[in-house]
Amino acid sequence: MQNKFKKYTIYQIYLRSFQDNNGDGIGDLEGVIQRLPLISQLGIDLIWLSPFYRSHQYDNGYDVDDYKSIDPLFGDFEVFERLVNKAKELNIAIMLDMVFNHSSTHHEWFQKALNGDKDYQDYYIFKDNEGHVPTNWESKFGGSAWKYVDSLDKYYLHLFHEKQADLNWKNPKIMDEMVDILKFWKDKGVTGFRFDVVNLISKPDVYEDDFIGDGRRFYTDGPNVTKYLSELFSRAGIEDCVTVGELSSTTIEKSTNYTNPKNGTLDMAFNFHHLKVDYKDGDKWSVGNMDLEKFFSLLDEWQSKVQAGGGWSAWFMNNHDQPRALSRYGDDINYHYELATSLATLTHLMRGTPYVYQGEEIGMRNPNYDDINDYKDVESLNYYDILIKRGYSENDAIYTLKQRSRDNGRTPIRWDDSENGDFSDATPWIKVNQDASINYLDALEDENSIFYYYKKLIDLRKSHLAIQDGKYENIYFDDKIYAFSRSKDDEKVIVLMNFSTEELTLGNQIVKVLNDNEYEVLINNYEEFDNTRLRPYQSIVLLRR
Ligand code: GLC
Ligand code: CA
Repeated sequence: MQNKFKKYTIYQIYLRSFQDNNGDGIGDLEGVIQRLPLISQLGIDLIWLSPFYRSHQYDNGYDVDDYKSIDPLFGDFEVFERLVNKAKELNIAIMLDMVFNHSSTHHEWFQKALNGDKDYQDYYIFKDNEGHVPTNWESKFGGSAWKYVDSLDKYYLHLFHEKQADLNWKNPKIMDEMVDILKFWKDKGVTGFRFDVVNLISKPDVYEDDFIGDGRRFYTDGPNVTKYLSELFSRAGIEDCVTVGELSSTTIEKSTNYTNPKNGTLDMAFNFHHLKVDYKDGDKWSVGNMDLEKFFSLLDEWQSKVQAGGGWSAWFMNNHDQPRALSRYGDDINYHYELATSLATLTHLMRGTPYVYQGEEIGMRNPNYDDINDYKDVESLNYYDILIKRGYSENDAIYTLKQRSRDNGRTPIRWDDSENGDFSDATPWIKVNQDASINYLDALEDENSIFYYYKKLIDLRKSHLAIQDGKYENIYFDDKIYAFSRSKDDEKVIVLMNFSTEELTLGNQIVKVLNDNEYEVLINNYEEFDNTRLRPYQSIVLLRR
């Protein structure tokens, strides 16, 4: 879709943790209907819903059993239709999550393959048993990426959980199936699609061992991603929909190409490099120090190069696979409001489309669970075992999960300060954050809350072309300060941010820019602004007069 989405702010709903309506402890579609007016109040244009298709829930729905169904856990087609109608009333579009790199092994296709049907075996990536695993590649959730099937004497590839078998996009029947699935949901009123780990769908011709890494360099950004996507989009007739691709371990060049409109594929893409700046030696499971200079430098580089190449980014600091950014990027204890609003300013002012992940708009933090029984995610549980095998003490392994587990972002929304946070009448599927002070009700009642700051940022995008689509230019960054501008036609905005606990004097580069013109304040997370200094975690957006 061309341009319209540049006005959008997109809100991600992780369904099972959003609102339980039928009292089984798991969020559902009816719960989304119930809370939608609040999302509308925030100013959201589109909601992305995590997978609610029939699934055995090994990976919380990213293991799809049937792409054209709704799991009774989450609702049915009648509720879905009401949700679509309610959203339409509120001017909110709906984006669904398409998990097309793999299906569940419970999917009918895989079951037929297991029963010996050769046509369906060709839907997946099966390799004959030659006395050893086909390659040494590792699954992203730990362990081998291959699973042996005794009855067939073959291995199949699973880049994620062993219940998530990778699909064979070289088989044109996969394309036919996926076209059909997209049409099905578009007919139901869906106008946005998120494509899960979509740069992994084009597998190599030769499968070889990786002696340098875990195999990803052989299957990431394969040769036919663009070809597959442009055919998929045009045959399914979704060019008028909003599309975003989740890109795993991609490069700036690839991401730019996928999202350049001339290639007719994704409108925008998520990358993760800026969320890995506290990984020690690139390893998610080794906790390192936060490197803010690297963070700003990546943000600068991505914005500049994607812009130069005519691409478009999807910007986010939180999602259902990430610990809460607030607990990672600064002092969220002493500067909770200031840090939360600074992270928001950054996300909403960069060149690209901003995403809000449920709960960040009220400043939710990591829950800091000490007990392994409070963790539910397959990846976390697998890695806990792996860390223990690597020689970590239980304490050290838990410490790592507290920083890294995807469950950190998956605790239910606290709608109020009651025991279950008004998320559910039953015991929630995962424990509610014990810090009751961060809750929606309080946020709504306080006109100076993080919630209203987000609302203001979202409104500003709607009324300022420079924010929607302005040219990005770096002014200055170091390990504490980031300053940049966005400009379109006569409109120019300047963004100044201090990501430190110190009050800082602005350097010459910034002062010079500020002195060149007169500016008015569009948004500021402090009462005052002195154009020679920034208070701790102060963020300010200025508009040239
Ligand atoms: C994506 C999803 C994640 C899932 C994985 C496999 O990264 O966001 O939740 O586990 O793909 O489908
Ligand atoms: Ca429920």
